[in-house]
Amino acid sequence: MTKKIEKVLISKEEIDSMVKRIGAQITEDFKGESVLLIGVLKGAFMFLADLVRHIDLPIELDFMAVSSYGNNVRSSGIVRILKDLETEIMGKNVIIVEDIIDSGLTLSHLKELLYTRKPKSISICAAFDKYERRVSDVQVDYIGMEIPDEFIVGYGLDYAERYRDLPEVCILVDSEGEEG
Ligand code: IMP
Ligand code: MG
Repeated sequence: MTKKIEKVLISKEEIDSMVKRIGAQITEDFKGESVLLIGVLKGAFMFLADLVRHIDLPIELDFMAVSSYGNNVRSSGIVRILKDLETEIMGKNVIIVEDIIDSGLTLSHLKELLYTRKPKSISICAAFDKYERRVSDVQVDYIGMEIPDEFIVGYGLDYAERYRDLPEVCILVDSEGEEG
């Protein structure tokens, strides 16, 4: 079964104003402090790059790569660290930056893990929220946009490593016999 882009769900302009709003919110919430943004690879790379340009605070950046066991579309919730942080997080205001929160299992496990390293605070920031599919009750502090239960690609999000480069968010559907 091949896949094809069905339509644009979120335009460049909508993404732009969403990023500005979240950047301003973080700037306000951490006034007088500094923050360490942790981008979850690979999906968050584009959102994070945009977001840092709208946060008016001293920031540090680091990245983690995690993977749920197995190769399923559905998250197992067991997080395996593929790339750990290079930064010491003790005493810092950590903001985990994710592309999308679906079941919430990846983020709740990641948050638990990072708490053991004694940061001052941990917040979670996700560009997109598929709230209908939430399983974990993990608290998401900053949400860009709530989206319906559709498979989306673009703005960092992939299907089999493709489409991450699209500047807008699109819905991907099955297309029998057509070029994907
Ligand atoms: P969770 O543990 O179920 O919240 O999984 C979240 C992760 O699943 C995200 O970081 C994405 O990598 C992936 N994911 C969930 N929904 C989508 C989607 O619609 N498109 C692309 N990746 C998705
Ligand atoms: Mg991801």
